[in-house]
Amino acid sequence: MNVLVLNGSPKAEKSNTLNITKAFLEGFPEGTKIEHVNLYKMNIKPCVGCFSCWSKTPGKCIIKDEMQELYPKIEAADIVIESFPLYFFGMPSQIKAMTDRCLPFMLPYMGNLVEDKNASFHELRDEKMHKKRLVVISTCGYVDTKPMFPALLKELDLICGEGHYTAILCPEGELFIAEKAKRQREGYLAEIRKAGAEFAHNRALSAETMERISKPILSPKGFEAITLAHWEQKSK
Ligand SMILES: Cc1cc2nc3c(=O)[nH]c(=O)nc-3n(C[C@H](O)[C@H](O)[C@H](O)COP(=O)(O)O)c2cc1C
Repeated sequence: MNVLVLNGSPKAEKSNTLNITKAFLEGFPEGTKIEHVNLYKMNIKPCVGCFSCWSKTPGKCIIKDEMQELYPKIEAADIVIESFPLYFFGMPSQIKAMTDRCLPFMLPYMGNLVEDKNASFHELRDEKMHKKRLVVISTCGYVDTKPMFPALLKELDLICGEGHYTAILCPEGELFIAEKAKRQREGYLAEIRKAGAEFAHNRALSAETMERISKPILSPKGFEAITLAHWEQKSK
């Protein structure tokens, strides 16, 4: 089993989100081949919208940068994990740039409306890509994921088709670095490890697991107290 982790936090190794991603991977069986890529350390230029990948060079992007090294890694992975913070209700810019550059994986769009909500808006060029699993792991700074993530989820639904990806969305992201929240986050990360084992086995997470890992780690009051102390310390 090949797993490709795309770290889309500009904080790279210091990412809050990466704590969850690492715990999720700890649940995978021994022998799993895991490759980590820090997208913010790579030279990935924005898509220029030339549509060469749909015309002159079908399936190939003409921009010569480090995305060319990423295409074969994405193709070879059985599971792609995107790990990133929520920025203004959506994906951060480097993840968006990488996503736009995935247009060569899609077939040209001929203006047809996709009625099936389970289908991706753009059909995949290669059938083999359907077997790949996408896991999106994201943290946000708010106490509740519900008002924060609808725009990102809608975008992912349209890109992948509803139900064709797994999203692990975690509130209270700053808890992953706050000294005082160590005990609480350990409990949460233990649940995430179990979820990783379940995903490695079933390539999906049950509704019960999703419910367990979607609960806020602290109450709004508890989160407020811990984050206030954390920001005070950070401002010194
Ligand atoms: C530019 C920027 C925009 C953000 N936008 C949101 C947001 O819309 N909603 C939210 O709850 N948190 C938002 N946050 C907070 C981050 O999502 C949160 O701190 C996250 O845990 C950081 O993860 P990372 O350490 O993996 O980068 C934002 C942070 C930054 C720097």
